[in-house]
Amino acid sequence: MDQLLSSPAIIHGLHKVEARIRRLSGSSTLPGISAGAERVVAAGGKRLRPALTLAASIALGKAPDRRVITAAACVELIHAGSLVHDDLMDRATERRGARTLNAELGDGKALLIGDFMLARAGLAAITAVSRPVAEVLAATVVELAEGQYLETTDLFNADRTRENAFRSITGKTAALFRAGCLVAAVCAHASPEDRARMAAYGEKFGLIFQILDDLLDLTATSEQLGKPAGNDLRQGVYSLPVLLADADVKDLLGRPEQVDEVLRRLRASRMADTTIEYCRGLASDAVAALPVIHDREMATLLYGLPTAYIDRVAATASLTAVS
Ligand code: IPE
Ligand code: IPE
Ligand code: MG
Ligand code: MG
Repeated sequence: MDQLLSSPAIIHGLHKVEARIRRLSGSSTLPGISAGAERVVAAGGKRLRPALTLAASIALGKAPDRRVITAAACVELIHAGSLVHDDLMDRATERRGARTLNAELGDGKALLIGDFMLARAGLAAITAVSRPVAEVLAATVVELAEGQYLETTDLFNADRTRENAFRSITGKTAALFRAGCLVAAVCAHASPEDRARMAAYGEKFGLIFQILDDLLDLTATSEQLGKPAGNDLRQGVYSLPVLLADADVKDLLGRPEQVDEVLRRLRASRMADTTIEYCRGLASDAVAALPVIHDREMATLLYGLPTAYIDRVAATASLTAVS
C-alpha cells in the first residue's frame, strides 16, 4: 500500500483528485452542509480507493484525464459519506483523529451530510464523467447499503455464518474497491474481459482490506487503532476472523458480558494466522484476475499490493500477540 501511495505518478494524480474532492464537498448551497462535508474529507484518510482507480487507469494504458480524476474523486466521496453513516450507526465519536459529525453536530445533521456526500458523488458522475460510470457507482451505493444492513441483522447472532459475514463485507467494502477499479476500466474503454478482470481484482483486494481491518480490531491495541480495541465485538459484530476461530471461542458468542473473555481466547488462539492464511488465498485470486498490464510500474504495484499489505498486517498482528 505504501508503495502504491508513494508512486510519483499516483501522487501526481491524487493531487488533482484532492482538489476535485474539496470542490465537490464544498458545493452545497447551504454553508453548514459544505462545512460538514469538508471537515470529513479534510480530516485525512489514505485515499486508497482513488489511488487504485488511478493505478488501474494507467495500467490499462489510459493516462488519467479529467473524467478519470472526477471518477476517482466520486469513489472517495462515496467512501467518506459511507463512513459518516457508519460512525452514526456505530455511535463512534472519533474518526481519522477528529470528532465524528454525529458527535459534533448530532445524528440528524450527520445523516443528511452523509446523504449529501453520496448524492453529490452520483451527480458529479452523471454530469462530469459518463452514464456508465454513474451506473456503476449508483449500483455500488445500493450494495453498500445492503452490506451494512446485513451486518445489523446479525448483531449478537451467535449462529452468524461465515457466508453471511462474507456477503456483508462484499457489499459494504469490497463493492467500492471493485467499483474503483471498474470505473477506471470503463473510462479506458477496456474490453469486457479486462473490465471484469480489473473489477475482480478490486473486489478481492477489498475483501482482504476489510478482513484485515476486522482482524486488527481484535488484535491491535486501542492506541494503535485510535479507537477502543475489540469495538466490533462489543457492538455485536462477529466478523470473519471471529467466525474462523475455534469452537471454544464461538461458544461464548451472543453474550455481551463475555466480550473480554472472548477477546482473551481469540488472542491466545491461532485466529491471526488462520485469518492471514485466508487472506493469502484471496491475494492469489486477486493477482490471478489481473489483466495483462504493459505499464511496468503499475504491474509491479498492482501485483505486489495484496501481499505487501497482508505482510504488513501480519507483522503487526504477531507483534501484538507476543506482547
Ligand atoms: C475504513 O477504510 C473503512 C473500512 C472499509 C475498513 P480506510 O481505512 O480506507 O479509511 P480511511 O479513508 O483511510 O480513513
Ligand atoms: C467499514 O466497516 C464501514 C463501511 C464500509 C461503510 P467498519 O465498521 O469495519 O469500519 P471502521 O472499523 O469503523 O473504520
Ligand atoms: Mg465502523
Ligand atoms: Mg472496522
